[in-house]
Order: sequence, then C-alpha cells, then structure tokens
Amino acid sequence: MLPTSRNRPQQRPARSWSFSEIMDFSDPKRKPRYLSKIIMAALLTAMCVVMLTQPPCHRRPPSVFSTHEPGVTHVLVTGGAGYIGSHAALRLLKDSFRVTIVVNRIFAENAFDAVMHFAAVAYVGESTLEPLRYYHNITANTLVVLEAMAAHNVRTLIYSSTCATYGEPEKMPITEETPQLPINPYGKAKKMAEDIILDFSKSKKSDMAVMILRYFNVIGSDPEGRLGEAPRPELREHGRISGACFDAALGIIPGLKVKGTDYETPDGTCVRDYIDVTDLVDAHVKALNKAERGRVGIYNVGTGKGRSVKEFVEACKKATGVDIKVDYFSRRPGDYAEVYSDPAKINRELNWTAQHTDLHQSLSVAWTWQKAHRSGYEPPAAVIL
Ligand SMILES: NC(=O)c1ccc[n+]([C@@H]2O[C@H](COP(=O)([O-])OP(=O)(O)OC[C@H]3O[C@@H](n4cnc5c(N)ncnc54)[C@H](O)[C@@H]3O)[C@@H](O)[C@H]2O)c1
Repeated sequence: MLPTSRNRPQQRPARSWSFSEIMDFSDPKRKPRYLSKIIMAALLTAMCVVMLTQPPCHRRPPSVFSTHEPGVTHVLVTGGAGYIGSHAALRLLKDSFRVTIVVNRIFAENAFDAVMHFAAVAYVGESTLEPLRYYHNITANTLVVLEAMAAHNVRTLIYSSTCATYGEPEKMPITEETPQLPINPYGKAKKMAEDIILDFSKSKKSDMAVMILRYFNVIGSDPEGRLGEAPRPELREHGRISGACFDAALGIIPGLKVKGTDYETPDGTCVRDYIDVTDLVDAHVKALNKAERGRVGIYNVGTGKGRSVKEFVEACKKATGVDIKVDYFSRRPGDYAEVYSDPAKINRELNWTAQHTDLHQSLSVAWTWQKAHRSGYEPPAAVIL
C-alpha cells in the first residue's frame, strides 16, 4: 500500500439501544405505565424530527474526498497499484494533490478534478496470445472510464499510451506526427483507445482537457526505495528487459536470452529509448498542470536517445555487480531494429526534459529495491525453524 497523508473521518461506533432498554427507562411504581409510554413516544418523535430536519452533513461529516476544494486538485489514479501508477501516486501526494486509487463506485462517491488512466494490461507478447482480453481491458475499459467521467462531469484526462501505437516506423526518431500503424493487439488496443478519447474530446459537449502521453520503454524506480517494478510471476516470460536482467542477477532465471545480433544498429542488437519512471511521472504532473479545457495535447515521453540491448546489459551487470550469463539467439519475430523518440514537442510545450538518462544510475536505483524485494510486494515467505 502507498503511504498516504489522508485523514478520513472515522465513524463513531453507534451505541445499540434495544426497544426493551428504552422501555426500562420507565418506572411503573412512580407513574402509570401508559403515561411513561406516551412520554417515551413523544421523546422519540421529537428526536426523529430533529434528526430529519438536520442537513445531511450534520449526521455524517462529508469526507474531504467527496467535495471539490478550491486550490486542491483531486486526481483519480486508475492502475495506481501498478508499477508506473504507484510512482505517479507517490509523486502527486508529495506535490499535495489529493489522490484516490481506483475502487468501485468511485465516481459517485468522490469529487474528482482529473483522471490519470494508467490501468491496463501491458505486455506485447501476452497481447498476441490473448487479444480479446487486451481489447476489452484497454479499449473497452477506457470507454467505460470516459463514460463515467462524462456522467460525473470530470473533464481532465491524462492518458497512458505507448510508442507501440507507432508500429514499425521507417524513419527515426519518432515524432508525434509519425503515422500510427500498430502491429500487435496491445498497440492496436491503445491506438483505438486514443481514437475514442480524441473523438469524444472533439464533440462540443465534452469540453475535455486531454493529455495523451506515449511512453517509450520505462525503467527505474523510486530513488528513495519505497516502490519498484513487480510484475506477476507468470508475466516474466513476456517481461521487459530490466525485469529479465534483475531476475538473472537474482538467480531466478539462469541467464539472459538476447534475441537478434544482426540488426542494422551499431552493435547488431536492438536499440530502444529507456525512460526513467521518475521522469515519466514528472511529465504527468507537468501535463496535468498544463491541461486546458477544450484542448488535446499528444506527447512522446522519451529521452530522444537510443541504447542498444548490449549497452543495457552491460549497465545492468555493472549496477547489480553480477556477471549475468548472456546467450545470443536469432531475431524474435516482430521486433524492430531501432525505436527512439523525438521529445522536442514535450520539451517545448510542457518544459519537460528527461533528467535521469544515465542507464547505470537508473538500474542501480531499481536494483536496490529488487534486492530488498525478491518476492515483489508479497510478504516474505514464513521462516520454518
Ligand atoms: N511499463 C512500460 O514500459 C509502459 C510503456 C508504455 C506504456 N505503458 C502504459 O502504462 C500504464 C501502466 O503500465 P505499468 O507498466 O505500470 O503496468 P502494471 O501492470 O505494473 O500496472 C497496471 C495496473 O493496472 C491495473 N489494472 C489492469 N486492469 C485493470 C482493471 N480492469 N481495473 C483496475 N485496475 C486494472 C493492474 O492491476 C496494475 O495494477 C499502462 O497503461 C501501460 O500500457 C507502460
């Protein structure tokens, strides 16, 4: 769970009064029984009248979460227990935003000013095995979130999209104008979700402030060591390169399998743009602060610099201090040689630039958390003596 400074008013436990207890209040020796009954009935009626004429807030103080407060932005963070959403929630709390992480009936009970929609299944490989689940979880659920936002008059959306919506562009670096031609269900589902958001934002009625952030490859973790990346074990086989490197360093898997050494890149391995999660959540806060009604902003969030898989593995070996065993294989179908962003637009319009661009440093921070949390957020296994 995230540490929060929230102070929800506690409900006082109600004292239980039985009907016989109330009637025991009367004393048949001193007053006739029917008279005490009349007095009691009058008292109860008076109490009911007083209670019913009080405004509801006198019966139960409203939670700060259920009212809009000038100067306080209340953000609904969907997927707030996940890798990126949890880092974003932590940063928002630090910046004195009011934060709620998704639960049922959330829109009815809370007065939100904005939604950061992180919640999604997010593994390319898994999406090719379970496409319907991906379209449902990503595309259909984004539609549900938008409908709920419209119904409850919440007008600001910061949406987690991905460079996977671009597919295999011929030209690098990728700008926001690069055609979106996704090649797997994950990228396609995100592109469809983007289209739904854009169509809705164009309708006059919506008056939405929308920021679509297309992330590149996210790495790193909270520099203070409070959070990390902990995918479910069954996702390891679809995993991201940082997770695989750490698993290899921890001895959870025997070594790393690097697929493809004959790409047209400086060292023959794939090149990707690795963005530190601390920079990524900073981009979200900047996007939230710049979000304007009736305006859509679409931004690539990357460093603008590509790093090869070999470079990444070397940085990981250095960060972990483990001489990770690496085996090289032929190319994996569907992998493209080079992907990196042109972050000029987000630099210019949101005054955002990646600050944590030293791979070794980002991986060292993440490794500190990984070493201390071998089972992720699971409690450590019981010690049998
Ligand atoms: N990690 C990356 O490199 C990367 C890159 C590009 C985009 N993204 C996007 O960033 C977002 C967050 O990704 P992440 O890496 O933190 O993934 P994650 O799997 O760590 O977190 C996703 C969270 O969403 C929750 N979730 C999924 N479906 C849900 C539902 N129906 N209702 C409620 N909660 C649900 C999951 O339980 C999880 O807590 C996703 O939208 C993903 O597509 C991630």
